Amino acid sequence: MTAKHPAPTDLEPVETASRDEITALQLQRLKWTLLHAYNNVPHHKAAFDAKGVHPDDLKTLADLAKFPFMTKADLREEYPFGLLAVPRDQVARLHASSGTTGKSIVVGYTLQDIDHWSNLMARSIRAGGGRAGDMVHVAYGYGMFTGGLGAHYGAERLGCTVVPMSGGQTEKQVQLIMDFKPQIIMVTPSYSLVIAEEFERLGVKPEDISLKIGLFGAEPWGEGMRAEIERKLGIDAIDIYGLTEVIGPGVACECIESKDGPVIWEDHFYPEIIDPNTGEVLPDGSDGELVFTSLTKEAFPVVRYRTRDLTRLLPPTSRAFRRMGKITGRTDDMLIVRGVNMFPTQIEEQILRDKRLSGNYQVLVSRTGHLDDLEVRCEVQRELSGTLSAAELAAIGKELQHHIKTNIGVSTQVSILAFDSIPRTLTGKAKRVVDERPTLV
Ligand code: DLL
Repeated sequence: MTAKHPAPTDLEPVETASRDEITALQLQRLKWTLLHAYNNVPHHKAAFDAKGVHPDDLKTLADLAKFPFMTKADLREEYPFGLLAVPRDQVARLHASSGTTGKSIVVGYTLQDIDHWSNLMARSIRAGGGRAGDMVHVAYGYGMFTGGLGAHYGAERLGCTVVPMSGGQTEKQVQLIMDFKPQIIMVTPSYSLVIAEEFERLGVKPEDISLKIGLFGAEPWGEGMRAEIERKLGIDAIDIYGLTEVIGPGVACECIESKDGPVIWEDHFYPEIIDPNTGEVLPDGSDGELVFTSLTKEAFPVVRYRTRDLTRLLPPTSRAFRRMGKITGRTDDMLIVRGVNMFPTQIEEQILRDKRLSGNYQVLVSRTGHLDDLEVRCEVQRELSGTLSAAELAAIGKELQHHIKTNIGVSTQVSILAFDSIPRTLTGKAKRVVDERPTLV
């Protein structure tokens, strides 16, 4: 803890509770979640029954290891409302995120879920150094993505003035920040640097920007990027983590007084680290896949949800709860490009809609400056190779670019090549994703 950033004086009692108190609360809430899921969601009942476990078998937290995992595939199979544990008319809101194919995955919230989420986001912003009365500029996207509305409700709950700017329109972002003088910004780390560059272009120095704090997440970022953001915007940069399936942002958030990894709000989400290959639970400190069980969620309880995010659990420091390390990678091929989650198979789906294209393609991700660039290379069918004019090829590319933008939400550069231009490996398969972005430091 530094004198510059004292801990808040109005922490919730649970944020300073003893480990025994936290464990007791988790056990009680875990029992409720398992019963709630088992009694109200046929998918969970079938999965528990298939593993020969019943919610009553949970006597200690360690017993959770006997229960089945949940994956994104379950969300896809139960699309859209099969995993809701309350009648649809009790669902106050829906959010969505990318699935591996065309259909997104959908989650629901009761009013109480939104209330808890707002409290957790308020707790997160306060951990990051925000206080009632501060002004918060929200530049996460609003809409089906959880970033914008999650940040918005949390900032309001904390007693802040919210500027619901959403993403994009960089010049307007900067104008509003200069005019309104917010203390806090909530945005993806990569876009924050685009905003910083616009300030630079206008000749505004970091010390003349009103912002003091930023809460950054929704994509991986490292200490190098933290230092750059802090320097260019003249702020403290805080790491906030979350995922749609578990609730959205605010599953974990860093404390400004220690900046040593997001604190997991363990009174609402029970974390485990598993070996991604065997599913075995690993001791704290080990690298592995992060798994969450929700403890209070009514509409969309998750039981041992495999996040596919690789990290480790760290001991408590600034709060009573454990922390998580930086996300070091994923166990699947999900890409996060400019904050948009996507799977190569989603791109493949769009390519295969066009019968003129062969199924062979390559997705190249690179970074110029601070933003990711996405290039999709594909090939025309063998019989068309050499028969199409440059204009015809360009038209095919434009169409595909449009389909990818409207269906996946990401801008791409598309190159349409002759048949057999993309190298095959010995097994006959092309390497689908070439990620040339620098590794995080
Ligand atoms: O990205 C929720 C969010 C919004 C978090 C705003 C933080 C701020 P999804 O779109 O479902 O939800 O994407 C979740 O993004 O599994 C991670 O792979 C990645 N991710 C989220 N936060 C971080 C972070 C939102 N702080 C997926 N560091 C997760 C690294 C992150 N990766």
